[in-house]
Amino acid sequence: MNQTTRLRFLRFIPIAVLSALFPLTSLAQTAAPPRTRVLFNDNWLFQKGDPAGAGDALHYNNVRDLIIHTGDNLLNYNPSSIPPAPAAKSAASKKSKSKKSAADSVAVVSKNPPTADFSAISYLRPDFNDSGWRKLTLPHDWGIEGPFAMELPGDTGKLPWAGIGWYRKHFNVPADATANGRRTFLEVDGAQSHALVFLNGHLVGGWPFGYSSWRVDLTPHLKPGADNVLAIRLDNPPDSSRWYPGSGIYRNVWLTQTAPVAIAQWGVFVTTPAATRDLALVNVNVTLDNLTGKPADVAVSVRLFAADENGRPAGAPVATGHALADNGATKIPVGANAQANCAVTLTLASPRLWSLAQRNRYVAETTVTQNDKAIDRTLTPFGIRTLAFTPGRGFLLNGERVEIRGVCQHHDLGALGAAINTRALERQIEILQSMGCNAIRTSHNPPAPELLDLCDRMGMLVMDESFDSWAGAKRRNDYATLFADWHEKDLRALIRRDRNHPSVILWSVGNEIRELTQPGGWKLAAHLAAIAREEDRTRSVTAACNNNSVGYAGFQTALDIVGRNYRPQFYAQLHAAHPQLVILGTETQSAISSRGEYFFPVSADAKDSQVNFQVSSYDPIAVPWGSVPGAQWAALAANPFVLGEFVWTGFDYLGEPTPYNKDTTNLLNFSNPAEKQRMAAELARLGKLPMPSRSSYFGIVDLAGFPKDRYYLFQSHWLPDHPMAHILPHWTWPERAGKVTPVYVYTNGDEAELYLNGKSLGRKKREEGGAGKYDFRWNDVKYAPGELKAVTYKNGKPWATAVTRTAGDPAKIHLAADRTTLRARAADDPAGPDLSFITVTIHDKDGMPAPRANNQIKFTITGPAEIAATDNGDATSFESFQTPDRKAYNGLALVIVRVKPGVKGAIKLTAQSQGLAPAEIALQSE
Ligand code: GAL
Repeated sequence: MNQTTRLRFLRFIPIAVLSALFPLTSLAQTAAPPRTRVLFNDNWLFQKGDPAGAGDALHYNNVRDLIIHTGDNLLNYNPSSIPPAPAAKSAASKKSKSKKSAADSVAVVSKNPPTADFSAISYLRPDFNDSGWRKLTLPHDWGIEGPFAMELPGDTGKLPWAGIGWYRKHFNVPADATANGRRTFLEVDGAQSHALVFLNGHLVGGWPFGYSSWRVDLTPHLKPGADNVLAIRLDNPPDSSRWYPGSGIYRNVWLTQTAPVAIAQWGVFVTTPAATRDLALVNVNVTLDNLTGKPADVAVSVRLFAADENGRPAGAPVATGHALADNGATKIPVGANAQANCAVTLTLASPRLWSLAQRNRYVAETTVTQNDKAIDRTLTPFGIRTLAFTPGRGFLLNGERVEIRGVCQHHDLGALGAAINTRALERQIEILQSMGCNAIRTSHNPPAPELLDLCDRMGMLVMDESFDSWAGAKRRNDYATLFADWHEKDLRALIRRDRNHPSVILWSVGNEIRELTQPGGWKLAAHLAAIAREEDRTRSVTAACNNNSVGYAGFQTALDIVGRNYRPQFYAQLHAAHPQLVILGTETQSAISSRGEYFFPVSADAKDSQVNFQVSSYDPIAVPWGSVPGAQWAALAANPFVLGEFVWTGFDYLGEPTPYNKDTTNLLNFSNPAEKQRMAAELARLGKLPMPSRSSYFGIVDLAGFPKDRYYLFQSHWLPDHPMAHILPHWTWPERAGKVTPVYVYTNGDEAELYLNGKSLGRKKREEGGAGKYDFRWNDVKYAPGELKAVTYKNGKPWATAVTRTAGDPAKIHLAADRTTLRARAADDPAGPDLSFITVTIHDKDGMPAPRANNQIKFTITGPAEIAATDNGDATSFESFQTPDRKAYNGLALVIVRVKPGVKGAIKLTAQSQGLAPAEIALQSE
């Protein structure tokens, strides 16, 4: 159908009338509206720590009253109307043995009185000589730079992310920057954490939650046509996170300029109240700010376009319309220093719906005019699709059932740390999709906006999560210290920022919050759910709950969907009690393994499976509160009313190295006192050892992005129609000749035959309902070197084959890049510099991967690129991620090559190791 027949015009006014009132062509011809939004990532200066003599003056508790009004425009509630937090026995309120000082803890009030005169603090003064500071380009994470230290907590990665960091930037704005009331905002996608922003020596605002996106108005202290100095102080209190939080300005930063009457921050909200393949109703709701002391009359018009891959308009508009005021006129009044709302509703015939396979998007161009002059214009990409969460048919996307096959992901990018890079995120999604994953839970915090763009573009569903704590703390200095003051702003900021993404299907208001088991805790859930619904009625609200009482003690009415973490054995009971309740496995499994590690004898006993701070890849174990994949899948099959699951986790992440941690957070999973006591004893037992582990074992994929064996198990289950077979363990065991060495095969065939050196060890059928339902096992195989081969069948026909052979001694290095042609993106491209992920494999002389090789490899690079990081997926390695040296771990290492912005040319990476033939790989930056 061509554009003109597809086009339907706005609902309220005949288009002919509109065209006469506001000829669209004349809008298009007006000068560019005075909204500019430029990336503000370059030329920053960085220094750790406060200047001498700063004392506690900038401690959060001392400046709270001065920054608390930042983002007040996001507030709707009077604090007195917010349900009081139940008397939480929180980590913060418990007596802690740790030494508290104002310098290391936001939970402590300093003796020094708050002061607004900060001129004694040199780092924030415009005249401070910062020439000795380190120059860098954002995004930046100072923690990932290390070094790892044994005495730092493993649960936050043994990295030095805690403490204070300062960023300064000198910049110029044009002489007319503030003419006619123009405003200049600093927009920060995320800074970890407790940000204070000073412009030219003046405190202009701050935002404590490190995962939120926020903005501050620079206008009052901006010097047009002159040097301006921004100084941003961050402070990461220790004991404030259960995983590696990152540190620094780790996401993109923008400078935005608008007219004083303009579209508000995240002020365009597109919904599609009707969306069928024949017709869509598109509602564009626009919030306007009037930052002048005079009332303003404006007109608001919208043009809809099909969007290209980047969410930009492609082709001619497919629908156009104007907003009407209450009285039916096209002039929208916006009061002095006030906000106003208006909406444009358009119809679209034969809309191209967004789905996981067809990622069609549209983009709404919203234009504000005043006195016939365009004063603001924004682009808002969105998708047209319907969501339904039903107790009977599960989750329906455009009316069709989609089982949620999701993973939980923390925000770090492995060796790159928390510093956002679009390609690194894209690679994570590619790897997850290659095992059939269709959803991500942003555990347990607001994600980088780039993740959501990618999910829109690549067809992933997102459960967008806000908090890991409410008023009850899990860590002494965690979000509980901020909850009362900031939760409304943080939650509204998350939803307003993310609500136009078609990939986002659910809002999660919390993870395993302490209030779950406290009387009246549900009232807080209802309050947060109400906020979410005020911001967006088109999605459902859930929370990830680890306690069975969630279905009975009020939460089941407060939330739209009861999110259950673990304990699939309770699904049926909950469903029987409330047949209308929609239930989702918000967190499941928590199986643990280390890539390429196999311990003998093979058993499901944790003791036999945990050696040398690694966990066996025979995939026998999960944490005590979790379950191995097969047990979870059997529960989902038996309880089809459950919408699906989010597995803990897709990728390994920095921190929380269960079972090698001293992390008592895990006790939160236990409500039964006996169980809790047993677990506490177990943790105490483990805690006696000095634990080198600094990253997790939960990932289906390791920290470097290399699939563990478990990845293939997921592939076999989540991608039933893509023929595959995988054998484990590797077959290089010179010390095991004649010893029992079990062999497992993961396949989506229904029969498998195993051959050792050409001799059949038996053909097996998938045992329905038995232990072997999700895998095939030959438990009695006696090791002999040579070739192991699995031939699989489906419906009696050959399906897929896998082969592994005994490797000889390590002899040479092999390099393979995920992409050899890279983009020399400009420095101001928000996607960030392009990356190539190069897999380094140690081979024997015949080219067979040597699965136990641990050679030390040295990398060098020539051309317009640098080595951004190296890794090998070993959760116990203390090698710096930044060095161009890396030991192979079970035969593999990773080099992340980063191209220099804007410079094209040939790049060559060379890998050398004593005793091995070197290797090189050519890349091209274009
Ligand atoms: C959950 C928790 C996660 C992680 C996981 C490890 O209870 O929500 O954040 O700690 O346990 O199994």
